[in-house]
Amino acid sequence: MTTSYSNLIALARLMANPISPQARLEKTYNAAADHYDHPALSFWDRFGSRTVERLPLAPGMNVLDVCCGMGGSALPAAVRVRPSGRVVAVDLAQNLLDKGAKRAAERGLPNIQFRRADLEDLPFADQSFDAVLCVFGIFFVPDLHGAVRGLWRLVRPTGLLAITIWGAKMFEPADDKFWEAVRQEDPELFKSIKPWNKIVQPDPLRALLVACGVTDPDVVAEPGTHPLDTPEDWWTIILGSGYRSTVDALSPPVRERVRVASIEAVRREKIREIRADVVYAIARRSPGSVGQSLSGLRFARSERGSNQRSLKRFDERTGDIRAQNVLRQASCLRR
Ligand SMILES: C[S@@+](CC[C@H](N)C(=O)[O-])C[C@H]1O[C@@H](n2cnc3c(N)ncnc32)[C@H](O)[C@@H]1O
Repeated sequence: MTTSYSNLIALARLMANPISPQARLEKTYNAAADHYDHPALSFWDRFGSRTVERLPLAPGMNVLDVCCGMGGSALPAAVRVRPSGRVVAVDLAQNLLDKGAKRAAERGLPNIQFRRADLEDLPFADQSFDAVLCVFGIFFVPDLHGAVRGLWRLVRPTGLLAITIWGAKMFEPADDKFWEAVRQEDPELFKSIKPWNKIVQPDPLRALLVACGVTDPDVVAEPGTHPLDTPEDWWTIILGSGYRSTVDALSPPVRERVRVASIEAVRREKIREIRADVVYAIARRSPGSVGQSLSGLRFARSERGSNQRSLKRFDERTGDIRAQNVLRQASCLRR
């Protein structure tokens, strides 16, 4: 296919389907909901639970889970904070939220509420949660800094922020087989949807968090694999993941050829497991954080000692905290 011809096809697709990236994600995960809870995709629950295991959650805590899917992390969090603690679990995809609510009812967890909300526009008051979680979701937004700052502002003093992302080479070596099959059929769609590759290493994640004013994040990479019990499991994973939009963009005969080629390649190369490396970041907000906005600037008590009057200046635009010894009385922050 020549470049100009494929550009024309891209333009035609765009005109036929003029939806925002956010609406596209919502559509993708609403469609993926029909395969999301298949046992072949047990990694959603596995890494959700693993994220929660790493957190010192306790009964009575108030937890927010953003990009919650069908509750991979929200459900184990609800178990940890019950009976008096609550979890609010939000996502764009209503079909996943409905499945999450069903699972919560089946597990006897009335302390969890699934509701639709956008990571980029969360309708909650500042510092209103003891813990804010985001598992495999932060990379979807175009403005990573804005998203992290938006989550951090919701964490109360001494509260926790947990962000989990995929490591490098997610789902390899099977991943390449799928994209090679797509490329053979439709070069324009090839690797068009891989937002999780935006950030996959601990150091950039740590730097992102620090740039957003997150206090001393603990960032840990955990290598892992996920089993493929049968070659067909690979196609099930594709349908229950973010690759669903690529599959749904193919015509039925092309989709069938991509399905057969993907499964055959996994069978031929005897691929029995795929890479599932994960990076976990956890941070605790300092007890002295005030985080109240004053004339477009946000101030926080110095981390060097709560008795000091020197304050750090938090630049909302860049997310930078600089110790500038801003000369203000701490009392003015409480007005
Ligand atoms: C890879 S899934 C992970 C879901 C869940 N945390 C889990 O591990 O099973 C990503 C989820 O993020 C949601 N999502 C993507 N962009 C979002 C946004 N801007 N606001 C809320 N949810 C979003 C998708 O609908 C999808 O359910």
